[in-house]
Amino acid sequence: MADARGRAPDVTAGSGDTSISAPPGTALRGVRALVTGGTSGLGRAMAHALARAGALTVVTSRDRRRAEATAHELGENVVGIGMDVRDDEAVQAGVDHLEARFGGLDLLVNNAGIGMRTVNPRFLTEPRPFWTVSPDGFRDVVGTKVTGSFLVARAVVPRMLRSGGGRVVIVSMNEHTMTRRGFVPYGPAGAGVEALARVMAADLEGSPVTVNILLPGGAAATGMIPEDATGEVRAMLLDPAVMGPPIVWLASPQAVHVHGERIVATEFENWRAEHAP
Ligand SMILES: NC(=O)c1ccc[n+]([C@@H]2O[C@H](COP(=O)([O-])OP(=O)(O)OC[C@H]3O[C@@H](n4cnc5c(N)ncnc54)[C@H](OP(=O)(O)O)[C@@H]3O)[C@@H](O)[C@H]2O)c1
Repeated sequence: MADARGRAPDVTAGSGDTSISAPPGTALRGVRALVTGGTSGLGRAMAHALARAGALTVVTSRDRRRAEATAHELGENVVGIGMDVRDDEAVQAGVDHLEARFGGLDLLVNNAGIGMRTVNPRFLTEPRPFWTVSPDGFRDVVGTKVTGSFLVARAVVPRMLRSGGGRVVIVSMNEHTMTRRGFVPYGPAGAGVEALARVMAADLEGSPVTVNILLPGGAAATGMIPEDATGEVRAMLLDPAVMGPPIVWLASPQAVHVHGERIVATEFENWRAEHAP
């Protein structure tokens, strides 16, 4: 199917179409969620949790086949699409396709990112100063996390406003990581996306679309960790599944008025008891 701009979206279902069958959970039945970068790590864990709670969940990747394979593994109510978040035409085509196919989206999780490994494979043990980072390496990390989050939200939010509401969740990182030695460009990209989320929340104040920030609360065992990380380092990593309970809650009816918050997944239960009993 070609989109309105004549471009064929890189889209394939991981399973059926609108005939997607009933999920194991029902808490999020009827919710249509898009998780960018859902083939690995935190995105995959959030997609898994959303799908298990009953949401129709779309995962994206730079590679359509990887997205399809992930959707197939995660279950019948998960769909995989190829959508490079750095490419505004691909984003527009993907979001157009999802609207035509599912009638819209209720939740956008801006998660896609690439990490320090792409500019320094040994960043954990041998941090390098900013001037050793290549311009293209810098652009790629910032372009994925900051520009990518902007492009997808820019395509999705006007549709949410037109349809009467929606929720955007931006995946961020600890403040320490944003300014840590040897963490250019990943740290500044995290700071940028967090500022983007706050401006988006301000712009959408009083509207039916909410924006919140979610972060794991520490380094998690994902594709961002170097393959040669020691057992000692790996033992300290969070399980990506820590993102499951807060993302399911943020998609649920209980969180309908939650807006402009910054939620740390490892502290979610305490945060919820304090802010949203
Ligand atoms: N791991 C941590 O400790 C940690 C801590 C705080 C925050 N985060 C944040 O969590 C998010 C996910 O990272 P992760 O740690 O889960 O890493 P990961 O396991 O490497 O997963 C990254 C995901 O992003 C996707 N992706 C990368 N570039 C993309 C692009 N241009 N378009 C679409 N998808 C793209 C990848 O899919 P493909 O490779 O299939 O394209 C993959 O699914 C990032 O925003 C990161 O900053 C991570």
